[in-house]
Amino acid sequence: NAATKYSIAVIPGDGIGPEVVAEAVKVLDAVTEPAGITLDKTTYPLGAEHWLATGEVLSDETMDKLRGHDAILFGAVGAAPNDTRIPSGILERDLLLKLRFTFDHYINLRPATLYPGTTSPLAEPGDIDFVVVREGTEGLYAGNGGRVRQGTEHEIATEVSINTAHGVRRLVKYAFELAQKRPRKKLTLVHKHNVLVNAGRLYQETVNEFAPQYPDVTVDYLHIDAATIFLTTDPSRFDVIVTDNLFGDILTDQAGAVTGGIGLAPCGNINADRTAPSMFEPVHGSAPDIAGTATAQPVASILAAAMMLEHLGHEDLADQINQAVRRDLETHGNEQRSTDQVGDHIVAALKAA
Ligand code: NAI
Ligand code: MG
Repeated sequence: NAATKYSIAVIPGDGIGPEVVAEAVKVLDAVTEPAGITLDKTTYPLGAEHWLATGEVLSDETMDKLRGHDAILFGAVGAAPNDTRIPSGILERDLLLKLRFTFDHYINLRPATLYPGTTSPLAEPGDIDFVVVREGTEGLYAGNGGRVRQGTEHEIATEVSINTAHGVRRLVKYAFELAQKRPRKKLTLVHKHNVLVNAGRLYQETVNEFAPQYPDVTVDYLHIDAATIFLTTDPSRFDVIVTDNLFGDILTDQAGAVTGGIGLAPCGNINADRTAPSMFEPVHGSAPDIAGTATAQPVASILAAAMMLEHLGHEDLADQINQAVRRDLETHGNEQRSTDQVGDHIVAALKAA
């Protein structure tokens, strides 16, 4: 039962973040206003520039305010990699990961679609249309590790992968439910249970345990190394992939590459229990190398906005955006367009539908 008014936090961030988010907001307004839905937006100026200007990465006070919104639309944060004014890791750990962990974004949802009118680097890509359901709060990214005897010959650095039964169960359940809703109903677990026997068996046993509840879903398993091969040689074999945090991070970058580029890949950081706002963003970063040139591809951000609408219960509106993007890319996908031209064209495609 979807509402008609939502409070949305907008975090445009740095570099091309504000440029692509502006187009996502343009498209959101074009689809929600005719449907009688109001998105009440509050902009939060977080990111590298904000940290340089104020010293705030992400304060508890800001966290509290963010918690009050229905969803977060995020651009990208970060300075150029050679910008020595920003210590490496602070925005990743203290902003992005803090949001994911505090708001319990345990589902990191990354669709990979090869749109007509776009070019895959693969000679025979086939029909690519799959979703990676990546764990978002555990694994090797949980921050469980340390360095002892630092700076000596006997230094020890540990990074311990955390996998809880609770975390794996809620992930696997979500993935099965998603697979059941999709036409092909196929779920592939990707892990490395021949070597990572502890975490791998927890994942495999959890999948085995849930499978009988979803008899119409076909279940498959691939080791992560084999999965990277098939993602290149036969990507159309995949429908829903469920995997841990690190494997999912790597696999989705590869997925972005085979589906024609990082500018088209959206991402949802989802708290499926809805105990805190979920966050929607493009997979790409702030692209300082092209910031200010109006050449950033805004489609990833626009598709992330569609994922946000779907999460809020407006699947119909999300679908309108997805179809408009599809039609737009089919017609104009290979043209040189400025960032705001792409947004305008997609709004026009929406209105023409
Ligand atoms: P990046 O994704 O920003 O850029 C990689 C390459 O892809 C660049 O050549 C860029 O021009 C191009 N690119 C990215 N998005 C594009 C788009 N929409 N249209 C056209 N071209 C696009 O990754 P990079 O360069 O490693 O990182 C730049 C900054 O972004 C760093 O500070 C990094 O930490 C941060 N970052 C932030 C993320 C986030 O906020 N979620 C995610 C990844 C990186
Ligand atoms: Mg990544």
